[in-house]
Amino acid sequence: MAGVETLVFSAITKEFCLVFFKKQKPILERCEGDLNTRLRLKYAPYYRVAESANGIHLTVDGQPMLLMSSNEYLGLSQHPKVVEAAKRAVDQWGTSACGSRLANGSRAYHVELEEALAVFLGKEACHITAAGYLACMCSISSLAQRGDALIADPNIHSSLWDGALLSGAKIERFAHNDMDSLAKLLAELAPKQAKVIVVDGVYSMEGHIAPMPRLVELAEQHQAVVVVDEAHSIGILGRQGRGVCDHFGVTERVELICGSFSKALASTGGFVAGSRAMIEYLRTNSRQIIFSAAISPAAAASARAALHVIQSEPEHRERLWVNYRHLKAILEGLGLDFWNSSTPALPIVVGDKMKCYELWKSLWDQGFFTVMSLPPGVPPGKDMLRCAVTSMHTTEQLDRFGDALKVAMKRARVQPRV
Ligand SMILES: Cc1ncc(COP(=O)(O)O)c(C=O)c1O
Repeated sequence: MAGVETLVFSAITKEFCLVFFKKQKPILERCEGDLNTRLRLKYAPYYRVAESANGIHLTVDGQPMLLMSSNEYLGLSQHPKVVEAAKRAVDQWGTSACGSRLANGSRAYHVELEEALAVFLGKEACHITAAGYLACMCSISSLAQRGDALIADPNIHSSLWDGALLSGAKIERFAHNDMDSLAKLLAELAPKQAKVIVVDGVYSMEGHIAPMPRLVELAEQHQAVVVVDEAHSIGILGRQGRGVCDHFGVTERVELICGSFSKALASTGGFVAGSRAMIEYLRTNSRQIIFSAAISPAAAASARAALHVIQSEPEHRERLWVNYRHLKAILEGLGLDFWNSSTPALPIVVGDKMKCYELWKSLWDQGFFTVMSLPPGVPPGKDMLRCAVTSMHTTEQLDRFGDALKVAMKRARVQPRV
C-alpha cells in the first residue's frame, strides 16, 4: 500500500510542478495573456482563410468575397506568361536553392533577374532577396553604422525601421513628407557627420508620394546618401512603371532603391539596386543577405516575367489609374477621409478603433474584404481601413463597393466630412 501511496503522491507532485512551473515562465504568461492577441482572436478580423483565390476574387466560408485591400496592383499573379514562367522554372531548377548564395552559390536565374532589374531601375547593379522585408532591411542595416545619422520619415515601412535599429546609427525623424522639417533637421547636424536619409517612395498606408526633387536637393546640400523604398511605386509610377525616382527624374541622385516583388510584380521576394560598389558592399556585409536562403526559382521567374509584362503591356497600368480615379471620386462623394492619397493605396481614415471595426465588419458582411490598420501600425488617431484599388476591379464592382460603404458608414456611425 505504501508503494501505491508513494506513486500517487509523486504523480500529484509531478502534475503540480508541471502546472506550477509552466505558470512561472514569464514569456509563456505573456503569450497566453496578450490582450491584443485575445482581441484579435475574439473579433477575428485577420488571418481569415480563403478556400479559393483568384486575383481579387476569394471564397471564404463558402461565400464569394471581393478583395479591396490587395497590393496586386496590376493583376499579374494569374497572367499566363507569369504563371508559365514559374512552372518552367520549377521544372528546370526544382523548388529551392536551399541555402544562401554565399554558401551555395548563385544561380543563372538570380543573375538574369538582377541584371534586368538594374537596367529597368537605371542602376548599375542589383541584389535580390527572398523577401522584400529582407531587401529593405539590408539596404540600411549595414549601410549606416554607429556614429552615423539616419534621418527617417516617421512613416517608413517596418522593414526600414528594423534595418535602422540594427544599424546602430543615431535615428533622427523629420515630420512626415515635410521637406522644411527635413531641412531644419539637416541644418542642425554637424557638416562632417555621415548621413543617410530614408523614405518610402509611396507610403503604403497613406498612399502619399515622397517629394523627391526637394529631398535630393537637400541630400546633396548636406552630403547625405538617399535610400528609397519603391515597394508601392514599381509598376505604378514612372516610365513603364519604373517607380517614384524615375517619375521625378531623380534616379541618378538617389543612391539605393529597394522594394518588394509582392505588389505589382506579383511574386515574393525583394530587391536593392544601386552602384556596383554599394551592392557588392552589401553582399559582403549584410547579414540578411549572407545568412538567408536565396529567392526560389519560381518566385524569381515570376517576378522576371511580370517585369517583362509591365514593360510590354501598359494597359494594366492605364486601367489601374482609371480605377484609382473612380474609387477616389466615390470616397470623395461619400465624404470619407482618404488622407489625400494620390496613389492606388487608398486608406479610409476613421480615427476611432471601434468605429473602424464596425465599418470593417459591415463591409465584410456585405462581401467586401478590407483590412483594418490600427495604431501603432499607423499614427495615433489614424485608425483606418487600408484599401487599395487594382487594375482587376471593374467599374461596376467599385460602384457596388461605394454602395456597401454607404450602408457601412450608417452602421458604424461614421459621419461624412463637410
Ligand atoms: C513599403 C513596403 N516595404 C517593404 C515591404 C516588405 O515586402 P515583402 O512583403 O515582400 O516582405 C512591404 C510589404 O508590406 C511594404 O509595404
